[in-house]
Amino acid sequence: MTWETFQVVADKVLAYGKTQAIDFAGMGEPTLNPHLPRFIAYFKGKIPTYITTNASALTPKNVERLIEAGLGTLIISYNGADAETYELMMGGLNFERAEKYIAHAVQLAQGRMRVVANVSVTRQTRPKLAEIRRRLNDLGIEKISFSLCHNRGGHLKGDGICDTPIPPRSIKQCDIFDYTLFVAWTGEVLACCHDLDGVGKIGNLVTQPLEDIVRYKEGLRGQGAIFPMCATCNDLYRFSGQANIAGTPVSEWVYALHADQSELANLYIAALRQRDALVEAQHAQTDQARSEAEQYKQQLAEVESRLAALEARAQRAEALVSAYEQGRFIRLVRTLKRATGQIVPRAEGQ
Ligand SMILES: C[S@@+](CC[C@H](N)C(=O)[O-])C[C@H]1O[C@@H](n2cnc3c(N)ncnc32)[C@H](O)[C@@H]1O
Repeated sequence: MTWETFQVVADKVLAYGKTQAIDFAGMGEPTLNPHLPRFIAYFKGKIPTYITTNASALTPKNVERLIEAGLGTLIISYNGADAETYELMMGGLNFERAEKYIAHAVQLAQGRMRVVANVSVTRQTRPKLAEIRRRLNDLGIEKISFSLCHNRGGHLKGDGICDTPIPPRSIKQCDIFDYTLFVAWTGEVLACCHDLDGVGKIGNLVTQPLEDIVRYKEGLRGQGAIFPMCATCNDLYRFSGQANIAGTPVSEWVYALHADQSELANLYIAALRQRDALVEAQHAQTDQARSEAEQYKQQLAEVESRLAALEARAQRAEALVSAYEQGRFIRLVRTLKRATGQIVPRAEGQ
């Protein structure tokens, strides 16, 4: 990315005011861009910054530049516990040099910049995870995330390296799409960092307002996995919010994902199953309570209609009684009048 493109994009991001973090990562290696320290310094004190790096260019001089620029967190990709695995997983990068650079970076960063590591769990690294953790701890890195490998939006073919199962096709949830905005070096906004062919163009931050692009994305919230590279995407970050896990095929996919991996993974599966069972039990109880409430409502309606009928009958009876009483009273008055001679019998013929 040129300095000119960066400035246009960065000014829009700063004016927008809602961005929570900037991660200089994606396709390629951020430390190879000579403007990187300037990019980072532009956000200093305004938005937290991260870079994800393969450590190949982390010379002490470069690390010092990043610290001076105000970088918040340096994420180091570290995949292998020995030269053989590391060099295979990191595309030929040198294991010894990487360890030397990392150790030095940790020393320089002390109290001035966070240094963490990201390990991709592949067929090759899976048996060495404990050793990888130990090596990173020895290098001075405590915070390590182990992320299950994915096929980079279908670009990594075969299962020789990555055997993560493909999620059910029907699930369109994509937290990567919903919560991140991927800006390519041209300023174009792509649907995802896995869009290596640039086919999911959704805007251009050099020519368009950021608000328009955000609005377009919000229209697709919850169904972001609709672009060509999403068809076979198995990146777990798609489900990091886990909104759909309970009671959907995604839960089965998650179980398959962790099956046979480790004792810890089995504990995780057991916890997930327990949570699913609890959710199910809660739903069943809610359903039962709802149907009982419905039953009571019907019973109440029946009783109310019977009561209304009884009240109507009582009113009719009262009216009859009062009519009868009135008739009796009139008859009594007539009898009395007749007895006291107040009523003169009609003359015959009248
Ligand atoms: C795409 S890289 C780009 C930045 C930089 N070149 C690097 O290697 O760190 C960002 C992160 O994604 C990880 N990554 C790359 N391919 C992956 C895959 N197929 N599965 C899981 N993680 C992967 C890398 O290990 C790295 O930590």
